[in-house]
Amino acid sequence: RYDKIAAIVGTLALSMSWGVSTALGQTVLTVTHSSPADSHFGEAAIAFEQSLEAQTEGAIDVVIQRLDNEREALESVQFGTQECAIVSAGPLGNFVPETRVLDVPFMFDGYDHARGVLDGEIGQELLALFPRYGLEGVAWMENGFRNLTTGSKSIVSPDDLVGMKIRTMENPIHIAAWQAAGVLPTPMAFSELPPALQQGTVDGQENPIPVILANNLDMMQQHLYLTRHVYSPGIFACNPDFVAGLDEQQQAALKTSGAFAAAANRKRVEKDELVGIETLRDRGIDIVEIDDILAYRDAMASAYADFEAEFGAERLQAIRDWS
Ligand code: PAF
Repeated sequence: RYDKIAAIVGTLALSMSWGVSTALGQTVLTVTHSSPADSHFGEAAIAFEQSLEAQTEGAIDVVIQRLDNEREALESVQFGTQECAIVSAGPLGNFVPETRVLDVPFMFDGYDHARGVLDGEIGQELLALFPRYGLEGVAWMENGFRNLTTGSKSIVSPDDLVGMKIRTMENPIHIAAWQAAGVLPTPMAFSELPPALQQGTVDGQENPIPVILANNLDMMQQHLYLTRHVYSPGIFACNPDFVAGLDEQQQAALKTSGAFAAAANRKRVEKDELVGIETLRDRGIDIVEIDDILAYRDAMASAYADFEAEFGAERLQAIRDWS
């Protein structure tokens, strides 16, 4: 009798921690992301939901929620208080340190280059490291190339950035690069950014076009500099024990649905990059193309010795030379 009670309690505990089972016997999979539904992450989450629910014939019920604090999202996935999350790689390096190599500024020439590295050996080897850190890397996602925006202060050359307070993600590589350029980087979660811009606690921020568009950051900023200084990957991560608890077919469906999500995400990034700059110009923000992009890289140059020491000059070069 006691064994029976223990078994019931055990089952209840399991269904409370893993994808709460509903009356219909469904497994609930909550996936959070940090943008509105109508965005590069929002569309990815919807593609994932449609694919996984169809493939598992409703046995898995996907619930999409917004959570702007990406560090918290990854912590919850690691602890198992939520099943999955789509996040930018901003805080990812604090969980899977090897992924920080992707955060080095001016590593990728464009989207084909970055996607090639993520889809190729380097990206796949990095994904294989996730379980070591209590995460399952289902698929690489994409946030986009980051651009600088400022409020009332304007910039002609990187020299003008010296002493400016720029909000960065909680990402040690980005912070080191901006520090080298003389900026006072102010790391904070995205949820804290709008009030910081509105109250003038920071002079500016940096984010990809899809994020600026979807979150109306242009309403809080006057200038957008197309610096494209760093590629910002994203990740679709799940809790490894949750994944292991799914049957084989469901695990395969999770993987292919992650790939659908990544495809939808990239398609939306492309669309936003294509029409987003004109849309933002029409909405009134001053858009500045950068003629001398290398000047920005040179301004960050003193950080590169540390990046080479951390990742190895050869590894950095292999990523730069990918073709
Ligand atoms: O700036 C960030 O923190 C990230 O780019 C964001 C906006 C959370 C990604 O959606």
